[in-house]
Amino acid sequence: MIYKSVASIAPFLVRNIGSVRKMSSGRFKVFVTRSDMPKGGIDILKKECDVTVSSHPSVMPRDELLKSVAGTEAIFCSLTDKIDQELLNAAGPGLKVVGTISVGHDHIDVPECRKRGIKIGYTPDVLTDATAELTLALLLSTSRRLPEAQHEARTGGWKSWAPTWMTGPGLAGSTVGIVGFGRIGQAVARRVKAFNTNKILYFNRSERPEAQEAGAIKVSFDELLSQSDFIICCAALVPETKEIFNKAAFEKMKKTAIFINTSRGGTVDQDALIEALKNNTIRAAGLDVTTPEPLPLDNPLLNLPNCVVLPHIGSAAIETRDTMSELTAENILAGLKGSGMPAELK
Ligand code: DGY
Repeated sequence: MIYKSVASIAPFLVRNIGSVRKMSSGRFKVFVTRSDMPKGGIDILKKECDVTVSSHPSVMPRDELLKSVAGTEAIFCSLTDKIDQELLNAAGPGLKVVGTISVGHDHIDVPECRKRGIKIGYTPDVLTDATAELTLALLLSTSRRLPEAQHEARTGGWKSWAPTWMTGPGLAGSTVGIVGFGRIGQAVARRVKAFNTNKILYFNRSERPEAQEAGAIKVSFDELLSQSDFIICCAALVPETKEIFNKAAFEKMKKTAIFINTSRGGTVDQDALIEALKNNTIRAAGLDVTTPEPLPLDNPLLNLPNCVVLPHIGSAAIETRDTMSELTAENILAGLKGSGMPAELK
């Protein structure tokens, strides 16, 4: 019994011993998983921590990552790093904080971090505008066929102005359905409204009071699928949203529907989407996220004329990425010092 209770508070004791040690040495050990993280956050950390930055300007090979995190007290990571039990074990009991430069956290084993008393910092809010902007850009690129049109202009397909050539549906007067009505879904709704849409529908676990501002109406998932001209996925990837866009869902959509995804590829049964696009079950899709990422060059989605694929650039506005980096650093520092993180994943 005594052993059991000591075991349950052991991670806490180890972490506190770590803090006491800090009082004498004064510097925390932080590992940064890639060398191309925006500089602002790294500079903030360097003022108070011993920072080791990966030498890879891309995803670190897993075996190297596992070796590199050994003995670190905080990890500055991105959504391309799997923070699972294996990695937490490799880091060891001194790990106090995981700071991810993302709002999505499906790459982190959150329950396992909680069990070990490891705090998680993330970057909500600061990327909402950038991601909503990109969602609108992708929506319009897909509906008005911008990549196809540019290809025609560049390759001689543009013979003359033509009344029915390169046409696609307009947003004005349409019904837009947003799946997932958190910060980003709401920001998308506010922007979509400015296009004189007829109706904005949303599907979300709970009713959102913020919906009033955009005049968005809560409906069931099936109602949203069958009534919307444009369906936008802004839902976080959690067990309940895994592959909610499956064969049955695409079959419930209008034949003229356009599907947009800027959340996570895992919300879509991608084979079912490929079939739906090939068979014209729906008109088109615009994807900023896929499974896997990057998408292999021989994936059919990359060759379908009615599909626009972007390489997960939702938050890639310059200022946004700088702010995300700084917020990640502030989260890590606060977590290490035991003060309140500006954005802790609770
Ligand atoms: C996030 O932060 O989760 C986004 O997907 C990154 O663009």
